[in-house]
Amino acid sequence: MKVLVLGGTRFIGLRLVRHLASQGHDITILNQGTIKTQLPPGIKQLYANRRDPETLRRALRGQEFEAIFDITGYDLGNLKPVVELFAGKIAHYVFQSTSAVYAESNYRPILENFPRINETTPGKTLATYEINKVECEDYLFREYHETKFPVTILRCPVIYGPDNWMHEREFSFFVRLLQGRAILLPDNGTTLLHFTYVDDLVRAYLSLIGHEATLGQAFNIVGSQAITSEGYIDTIAELSGVSAEKVYLDSQAMENLERPVFPFPRTGNSFYGIYKAKESFGFWPAYSVNEGLRQTYDWWQRNLGIAKTRFQPGRLGYDVDLAYEDSLIERYG
Ligand SMILES: NC(=O)c1ccc[n+]([C@@H]2O[C@H](COP(=O)([O-])OP(=O)(O)OC[C@H]3O[C@@H](n4cnc5c(N)ncnc54)[C@H](OP(=O)(O)O)[C@@H]3O)[C@@H](O)[C@H]2O)c1
Repeated sequence: MKVLVLGGTRFIGLRLVRHLASQGHDITILNQGTIKTQLPPGIKQLYANRRDPETLRRALRGQEFEAIFDITGYDLGNLKPVVELFAGKIAHYVFQSTSAVYAESNYRPILENFPRINETTPGKTLATYEINKVECEDYLFREYHETKFPVTILRCPVIYGPDNWMHEREFSFFVRLLQGRAILLPDNGTTLLHFTYVDDLVRAYLSLIGHEATLGQAFNIVGSQAITSEGYIDTIAELSGVSAEKVYLDSQAMENLERPVFPFPRTGNSFYGIYKAKESFGFWPAYSVNEGLRQTYDWWQRNLGIAKTRFQPGRLGYDVDLAYEDSLIERYG
């Protein structure tokens, strides 16, 4: 299959490209060329800034693909030019979206037809990541209904796994535990976390291609199990062969927090249904939480370890601030 991956040199796109290459597909990637990565041989590279429609058109003019995997579509400004270029010329366009598009709900699991946020959702502004993704989804659904643009949308909550560039997430717990630091557990460790293992997502990308029933549809792609935050820490501690010292933060302690201390969005207990993907294209995740974390930990040990793990303050909105954690551990431990 002749494919274009938008992105391709980091985390999801990189894992996808490696998987596509292992299956012998004809792969082109498009990015700005600022991230330097070891790619499999034979990958064609195009360079453009997606935010600049003219350079994008120049880079993609005359190119033909059967499928496009859009990992880096964040808003209408960087999505529309690509869709306009390939309307009527491709068989499948897969758009990476997020579970953050869902509005709050009292029901679990959250299913694909649940309401999504909009401009009137309290606390949301038009500039937010989630609102932009909703706009992208709406635009793509419209294109499907009006012109049969062959889109499939994949929604994921937090994605984890080897090659993750956000070291603040699972890697930060590897560091804390190996350094013997106590772990702060918001809401007494009861919050339910539901993640996507990156290689499950990659498999979903590939397995949906060619399935007519996926066109014009959105799918949750998430692991088959959720886990409490305490279970998450215990699992990592077991994998890394250490015992976890845990400090439980109750609701009063949570109210007193000056900033977040657990590196995942605090959206309450998350649990997403994945039955639609199973019914529509036979997809079911292959990795349990335990297995996904084990693969991730092994990869981290081989490739980064404590020495190469970097926390970049101010980047994600939930910085790893170990000095602040120490003050909380002293107070509540
Ligand atoms: N990580 C999660 O937990 C999570 C959860 C839900 C959904 N998602 C979705 O997953 C996607 C993010 O995936 P990711 O973190 O693997 O990749 P990413 O960081 O969004 O993208 C990195 C890739 O995009 C290229 N790129 C960046 N800016 C560009 C630009 N202006 N023009 C052209 N190329 C550009 C980068 O190369 P250059 O810098 O060299 O251009 C690189 O190849 C997003 O769609 C996000 O909404 C992520």
